[in-house]
Amino acid sequence: MQKPITASAPGKIILSGEHSVVYGYPALISAINLRLSIDSKGGILSRIPIGCGMGSSAALAVASSALKVIKGSGLNLEKVNSLAYELEKKQHGNPSGVDNTVSTYGGFLWYRKESESLKLFKSIRPKNRLDNLYVINTGRPLESTAEMVAFVNSGYKKNKAKIESVFKSIEQVARAFLNEALSKNGSSAPDLIKENESLLESLGVVSESTIGLIRRIEKFGGSAKVCGAGGIKGNSGVILVFHKDKEKLFKFAKTSNLEVFAVKFGTKGVYVK
Ligand code: PMV
Repeated sequence: MQKPITASAPGKIILSGEHSVVYGYPALISAINLRLSIDSKGGILSRIPIGCGMGSSAALAVASSALKVIKGSGLNLEKVNSLAYELEKKQHGNPSGVDNTVSTYGGFLWYRKESESLKLFKSIRPKNRLDNLYVINTGRPLESTAEMVAFVNSGYKKNKAKIESVFKSIEQVARAFLNEALSKNGSSAPDLIKENESLLESLGVVSESTIGLIRRIEKFGGSAKVCGAGGIKGNSGVILVFHKDKEKLFKFAKTSNLEVFAVKFGTKGVYVK
């Protein structure tokens, strides 16, 4: 009997640029070491929490596209990515394409969607180890990514000037984060995360309970931002946390009954074996 082939694709974390990326602003994203695999018999194994902003749906789209596209031992990543994007469109309506792209290519990407048919991205190699960054799961939001994107769009239609100015500020943060990653001795990650969070709060995509949690993290020396679409009525998915004291942070997560991950960034994109 033939051995089934398996495709493995990574989840992701958006360091900066969620939501604004849908409107053509840049985003900085990284593949992470939580992965999903699917075999040619349809079996799925995943360590990526579902629907929490860690790119589980994109990893599924990318891994299943890889199984469709694979020919012999060659995997055409461009084909995988464009097929996965079509699957993401079916699920999310108007995705930026950032999730499937980073899950396909892996590493760190600087990404910008110029138009439906022109999505630009560049792999970057950080010089800074981006230490002290962790991920806490606040829990699966009640709203879907499509609903959150539609929510931001309704605000955009009501007050275009205001929302555009928030997006422009997010772009400044994303650029500063890129410089932070590319400099050897950067130290601005905590401030950038804080600023990014306050801009996301002004878009209205962070729930009261998650805002409360982030203020508590700030009180004991950390900073945190929502990663991904966010959530309004209940939980807001995963948050990216900076804290210099891992032990303190993990203790806090444990007593607050929250899942915490010391994720590895810049991991490998999709592969088939
Ligand atoms: O699916 P999530 O929660 O990772 O959100 C994706 C990020 C958004 O910018 C909100 C949407 C998109 O398509 O880029």
